[in-house]
Amino acid sequence: MDKFVIKGGRPLTGAIPISGSKNSALPALAAALLTSEPVILRRIPKVRDIRTMQRLLVDIGSKVDVGPDSVRIETTEVTSPEAPYELVKTMRASSLVLGPLAARAGRARVSLPGGCAIGARPIDQHIGGLEHLGAKIRQSHGYIEADASEGLFGAKIHFDRITVTGTEDLMMAATLASGETVLEHAAREPEVKDLADLLIKMGAKIEGAGTSTIRIEGVKQLGGADHTIIGDRIEAGTFLIAAAITGGDITVTECPVEHLDALILKLRQTGLAVTQPDGTTLRVQSNGPMRSVDMTTEEYPGFATDLQAQYMALMTQAEGIAIVTETIFENRFMHAQELARMGANIRLDGSRAIVAGPRDLTGAGVIASDLRASASLVLAALAARGETVIDRVYHIDRGYEKIEEKLALAGARIERVE
Ligand code: EPU
Repeated sequence: MDKFVIKGGRPLTGAIPISGSKNSALPALAAALLTSEPVILRRIPKVRDIRTMQRLLVDIGSKVDVGPDSVRIETTEVTSPEAPYELVKTMRASSLVLGPLAARAGRARVSLPGGCAIGARPIDQHIGGLEHLGAKIRQSHGYIEADASEGLFGAKIHFDRITVTGTEDLMMAATLASGETVLEHAAREPEVKDLADLLIKMGAKIEGAGTSTIRIEGVKQLGGADHTIIGDRIEAGTFLIAAAITGGDITVTECPVEHLDALILKLRQTGLAVTQPDGTTLRVQSNGPMRSVDMTTEEYPGFATDLQAQYMALMTQAEGIAIVTETIFENRFMHAQELARMGANIRLDGSRAIVAGPRDLTGAGVIASDLRASASLVLAALAARGETVIDRVYHIDRGYEKIEEKLALAGARIERVE
């Protein structure tokens, strides 16, 4: 298992290019199952979760050709409409094939994901929605089986709670249902909008993606498309925080600036200078001591839960007390204990973390517990005096493309060792 060895304590300065969004690319790959024609997706990030999704598509019957910066998927026939436990347990986003398979093949068998490091994360909203569209659902041996052999039928679906992949899954299923589907209380994340843009290119009729009400008029069939994935706002946010936490100056390029408003607001409130040299570039410059600023995670356009761990690491370096409240997942504070091992003063109280700063962090041996928690440990290590060894960096490889090479562009001393 790979580890990162990081020698911290120096400001990072430089420019870092942003990759395509992992959480946009995953549903886009699943959407390719909806048609027998080729779908070409560009700016697909080279991360482990994407390789897992590509493997799943091959098992299902797709031909997947991976080019230097694009992927071509052609699914002439769905030969095995199934997402097995072995894949779903390593990547919950595998459940994104449920809707497309039910719609295209009339049948889907998808393993229930079980618990995960950041919370229970059930998929009841996906399943309930599919039932509303007319699929017959059965659960046995840890699998959900959807039978839509008589077709799917448009319906009004009101989500009990906002779910990103649930919205995506049902939007995909509804594209091939007869009649109109209305998704209410839908997720407004930019990744949902990006998926709708792809589906519309494939011939789907969708209005309102990016708002909480999405209308989909089903069509008989979808065709091929060529689509470029949006930039990864979470990757961009992580590097901007790297500038802030090390007292440095980083510019991120090819960045989805318009999706980062909530983070930019917080960074400015702490006293950092955030500027936008052009439409796709953001720069964070340190400006002396930072103030502590409270933060609560929310669905988009609120502050992303996927940047909560990184923000908590940042608050260890700010003056005062910051209360970080996590509202999306019930167990997403695993990084707090590891940050404490590096010298952070963090007290947990249910869904709140109380971070007192500034504290001098020192290098230590720490363990990555999930994707974004690992990113927060990398950030803390870059700010810490001495050497930090981060174990189990396979978590970070799930969602960050060559993070060590990108950070090195800004002068980070980070090495991957086996
Ligand atoms: N939930 C339910 N029932 C459902 C679905 C969700 O109770 O059927 C709950 C979840 O347990 C959670 C909340 O609703 O407490 C929100 O979950 P959501 O479904 O929105 O999360 P997701 O779709 O599984 C995506 C991202 C996550 C990101 C969340 C929240 C992808 C592939 N994953 O997950 O990304 O944290 O939305 O924004 O898009 C990451 O990239 O590190 C990551 C975890």
